[in-house]
Amino acid sequence: MTKPNKGDVIIALDFPAAADVYGFLAKFAEEKPFVKIGMELFYAEGPQIVREIKARGHKIFLDLKLHDIPNTVMRAMRILSALDVDMVNVHASGTIDMMKAALEGLTRADGTRPMLIAVTQLTSTSQERMQQELLVGATMEQAVSHYAKNAMLAGLDGVVCSPLEAAGVKAVCGEAFQTVTPGIRFADSAADDQARVMTPEKARIGGSDYIVVGRPITAAADPVAAYRRCKLAFLG
Ligand code: C5P
Repeated sequence: MTKPNKGDVIIALDFPAAADVYGFLAKFAEEKPFVKIGMELFYAEGPQIVREIKARGHKIFLDLKLHDIPNTVMRAMRILSALDVDMVNVHASGTIDMMKAALEGLTRADGTRPMLIAVTQLTSTSQERMQQELLVGATMEQAVSHYAKNAMLAGLDGVVCSPLEAAGVKAVCGEAFQTVTPGIRFADSAADDQARVMTPEKARIGGSDYIVVGRPITAAADPVAAYRRCKLAFLG
C-alpha cells in the first residue's frame, strides 16, 4: 500500500480548470505538496489531470466519494487504482460490503494499493437533518463513530471527519486508524462557509493525521508562505 507521510498537509485544489491548477502549482518551486483533486476538477478535466499532476511529482488524494452497489464500486476503484493515486474515498453509508468491494478493486496484482478512507457523515449535514430527513436516530457523534467502526471492519485505513470528531474516532477505532480532516483555519483567517473549524495546531493535538486545507492556502496572497505556515503549525 502507498503510505503517504503521516502528518501531511493536503492542499484542496478546488479550481475549475487545469490552467488554474498549473498556475497555482507553479508557485511551489521547492516543495511538492500533497494535493486533493475533487469532483469539480476531475469532472471538468478527466483522468488526464490526475496523470499530469502525478507526473509532476505530487501525491494525490482523489476525493470522489464513491457510493454505489458493491460491484460497480469495485470496478470503478480498479480504474482509479491504475491511475496511481495515493488516497481515495467512499461513503461509509454504502455498507461494509461496498467498502470491502472498494478495497478489492483498489488492490493491484502486486498487492499494493492506494490508501482507502471513508466519509462518515458530511460536515455539511447537521444532526437535526440526519435525524429528521435521513431517519438516523443516533447522535452525530454516535453515527460518526459507528460508521468509522464499520470502515475499520471492512479493512479501510481511516475516515474523513471533522477535526472535532477525530479524537472520538481514535477512541473507538484505535490510534492506527487514520483521520483525514478538512475544516482547517488559521486563528486569524475567515471561516468562509465552514461551520466547524479548527487551527492546524489544535487539529494535530486532537488526533488528525492529515489535514485538508483549501482556501486558507489557495486564496492567500502568498500561497507558498501559507502552506509553510500550515505545515509548521501542524507538524508542531
Ligand atoms: O477551502 P476549505 O479549506 O474549506 O476546503 C476544504 C476542502 O475539503 C474542500 O475541498 C471541501 O470540499 C473538502 N471537504 C470538506 N468537508 C468534508 C469533506 C470534504 O470541507 N466533510
